Amino acid sequence: MRTQVAIIGAGPSGLLLSQLLNKAGITTVVLERQSREHVLSRIRAGVLEEGCVDMLRKAGVADRMDKEGHPHDGCYLSTEQGKFRVSFKEACGKRVMVYGQTEVTRDLYAAQDALGATILHNVEDVVIHDANSDSPYLTFVHGGVAQRLDCDFVAGCDGFHGVSRKTIPSDVRKEYERVYPFGWLGVLSRTAPAAEELIYCNHPRGFALASMRNERLSRYYIQVPLTDKVEDWSDDAFWAELKRRMPPDVAATMETGPSIEKSIAPLRSFVTEPMRWGRLFLVGDAAHIVPPTGAKGLNLAASDVHYLFEGLRQHYHDGTDDGIDSYSQKALTRIWAAMRFSWWMTTMLHRFPDQSDFDQKVQESELHQIQRVEAARVTMALNYVGLPY
Ligand code: APR
Ligand code: PHB
Repeated sequence: MRTQVAIIGAGPSGLLLSQLLNKAGITTVVLERQSREHVLSRIRAGVLEEGCVDMLRKAGVADRMDKEGHPHDGCYLSTEQGKFRVSFKEACGKRVMVYGQTEVTRDLYAAQDALGATILHNVEDVVIHDANSDSPYLTFVHGGVAQRLDCDFVAGCDGFHGVSRKTIPSDVRKEYERVYPFGWLGVLSRTAPAAEELIYCNHPRGFALASMRNERLSRYYIQVPLTDKVEDWSDDAFWAELKRRMPPDVAATMETGPSIEKSIAPLRSFVTEPMRWGRLFLVGDAAHIVPPTGAKGLNLAASDVHYLFEGLRQHYHDGTDDGIDSYSQKALTRIWAAMRFSWWMTTMLHRFPDQSDFDQKVQESELHQIQRVEAARVTMALNYVGLPY
């Protein structure tokens, strides 16, 4: 088998890159370790930056998002002293789109099917060969048969646990990491959202977040110790703890119901540099992980795809490699800005096990500043809605 761009991973990064390349007349083959059903069963964040929304429109996969998604002009921050709103629209004239990542992935699959794209599922033992040469190729097993895929370029869109990052020799790679001493327990429920916009809560018992998917689907999170297990949390215990951390007026009217998904995710910041090795490019979670505070994961994947797509398009259509040569540096500049923002949001809103009274006061003062100082709100809003590509 031969293709121009071999893509490992059919998450949002791999599918969006494949869609844009196919639309530009560049051939791809996508290799995915899991089944399509498994990929579509993963629940992830649901806040899209304007840049990401524009990319989905450019890729021709935005019809349902434009119909069913909910544009949000602001969000709430809550402390024991009360809650206040940050208006993104007033601060920087922009908004975000609330639309689940699972739905984005579903729309991408439908668009890829319509184009007749090649996506192989349940693929095993993917190995990248000769990435640092002019003729890279992949080997893998599909349906019990060993196969070879020759290509011009390899896009490693295979997430944090994929093979692509590890293919880059360790003496070429530098990794940066911060692991946070807590996790998020998330619950999805068929209930009306607690408020019309997201509420991020700083509370002495720990962080909490009220988010949503649509009028009858809510997504909530509470900070929990890393030692907690999902089985430790009955639905009743979850709702009781969530209500304690939410503003009292919101807790009083909050609709509760059975969870339809419940999981615990650890929080981590991670970046690997560089994101290119020869003809292999790392994209999305394969190269970086952000803690979910601020919902930057999918949005960073979209900006990586933007830079790589432009580079590959220029290579095939304009005969210049400037775009692919600057991919890693351009992507990393934006990634570090989002790393800083996600770390800052996480640090400002969570209770750390070793948090001193001094740390606590600084945290409160930080939130107070956002409430009172326009420049602080503008900085937060610009980062939340997404820095320009
Ligand atoms: N071979 C083939 N496929 C693989 C392999 C492998 N060795 N390893 C991983 N994969 C697949 C995974 O099964 C997954 O479907 O790669 C895909 C990677 O998808 P994501 O983890 O979703 O990563 P990405 O597409 O970069 O998305 C970034 O979406 O998943 C969220 O938290 C993530 O929000 C972030 C954004
Ligand atoms: C979500 O809706 O799942 C979500 C929203 C905002 C975040 C994180 C997760 O910061």
